[in-house]
Amino acid sequence: MPDYARLHETLAALIDGVPHPLPNLANASALLWESLEDLNWAGFYLLSPARPDLLVLGPFQGRTACIEIPVGRGVCGTAVAREASVVVPDVHAFPGHIACDSASESEIVVPIRKNGRIVGVLDLDSPKKNTFGEEDRAGLETFVRILADALPDDFPARLL
Ligand code: SME
Repeated sequence: MPDYARLHETLAALIDGVPHPLPNLANASALLWESLEDLNWAGFYLLSPARPDLLVLGPFQGRTACIEIPVGRGVCGTAVAREASVVVPDVHAFPGHIACDSASESEIVVPIRKNGRIVGVLDLDSPKKNTFGEEDRAGLETFVRILADALPDDFPARLL
């Protein structure tokens, strides 16, 4: 199991005093990528300020990915629609899963809230089934809370 307490401390130190959301998200995806095992994708989809029904690809690590995901579609859009994290032990058993990388076997998506409003999601994909459990959900929900505290109130309208 990853040391989430250490991961949270490292993230807090990494973004401390950085007023730029884009670099903070980019570094957060790199931190997850280098800290967690069995990942083939780690990154963010952000709610479009112009189209609040649409998630748009944000900073990530891994293979190139789909640019747009409508709210309510795929695991990412489902997490936004449900306003809750979604843990998928086997992506092939999740109706509507969007396969950006055919290597993905399991997935977790965690909504990011700023001032009570969902502004995007964190998405992690694994090439193994059953990679993510309750501890990961709790650890990653705290991770995105730390990140969201550093986001400006007008995020994602302002990224730099
Ligand atoms: N699998 C996601 C799409 C994004 S990629 O995994 C990077 C989904 O079903 O929403």
